[in-house]
Amino acid sequence: MGNGIAHVFAQNGWEVALIDVSSDQLNKGLSTIAKNLDRQLAKGSINAENKDATLSNIKTYTSLAAGIKNVQLAVEAATENTELKLSIFKEMDEHAPADCVLASNTSSISITRIASVTSRPEQVIGMHFMNPVPIMKLVEIINGYATRQDVTSFITQLSKDLGKVPCVVNDYPGFIANRILMPMINEAIYSLYEGVAGVEEIDTIMKLGMAHPMGPLQLADFIGLDVCHSILNVLHEGFGNPKYAPCPLLTNMVLAKRLGIKSGEGFYSYTQGNKDLVVSSSFR
Ligand SMILES: NC(=O)c1ccc[n+]([C@@H]2O[C@H](COP(=O)([O-])OP(=O)(O)OC[C@H]3O[C@@H](n4cnc5c(N)ncnc54)[C@H](O)[C@@H]3O)[C@@H](O)[C@H]2O)c1
Repeated sequence: MGNGIAHVFAQNGWEVALIDVSSDQLNKGLSTIAKNLDRQLAKGSINAENKDATLSNIKTYTSLAAGIKNVQLAVEAATENTELKLSIFKEMDEHAPADCVLASNTSSISITRIASVTSRPEQVIGMHFMNPVPIMKLVEIINGYATRQDVTSFITQLSKDLGKVPCVVNDYPGFIANRILMPMINEAIYSLYEGVAGVEEIDTIMKLGMAHPMGPLQLADFIGLDVCHSILNVLHEGFGNPKYAPCPLLTNMVLAKRLGIKSGEGFYSYTQGNKDLVVSSSFR
């Protein structure tokens, strides 16, 4: 997600400091950005000059303190782990300029909680981009309990300037996107678990019947079953309502490391070079 966010800002003329603890990840990020720019070039949506300008707007850092020291806005997109994000926000707060806005791309962690470890909770906000960032139009903007109105207006206008469509929501578990999406995915997994229908039938019904571009089981594989599982747990704990509890089949698949595309197997099987959707042998 970090490389997609850097790509979109840099393409729109922002100077970007791309920060990661791993220099391997930084190199991977830069090569993904270059590959995605080549795709845009081939489609004619940018020219060679735009590509060069975008790449030259990005500098990489493995030191957060060095990367963040002169920035107007920081968008955190590190691994989805509460303790990690809290420690990163403490560090960002310490090294970023006093007027810098601190945003998080978190899919599910409370913005109010993240803001509470900083000395500037009114300048902390959620800026939830969708995957893949250069293509997906939505930015879900999440106001923490203390977020100042002018900070929300700044991020809203900025999202429009990036060519995105912002939607502002309040900070409750799952915000809007995942509060609605995850129960649908969970229900699809329950339908499979209870033998109501097979993988292909469930996805085809939702694709053709509801005009969804991807069925919920394929989407779960794309997002990562571990990510779906952890967001459902956030909803379950946050609302205390059993309707959000992850389906036991999902829990088992996560324990068995059947995580979807990233592990090569989920509801479907993935082999490099094969673009056909093949239902996993566990569900045939
Ligand atoms: N993947 C998605 O579809 C998606 C969609 C929307 C939002 N998000 C959110 O975006 C964030 C990132 O997701 P992802 O899928 O790109 O995660 P990822 O685990 O693939 O990448 C996270 C990156 O963070 C780096 N990192 C870890 N600790 C760090 C630290 N202390 N300082 C700097 N960098 C650090 C890792 O090296 C890695 O490169 C998460 O909060 C996730 O919820 C993900």
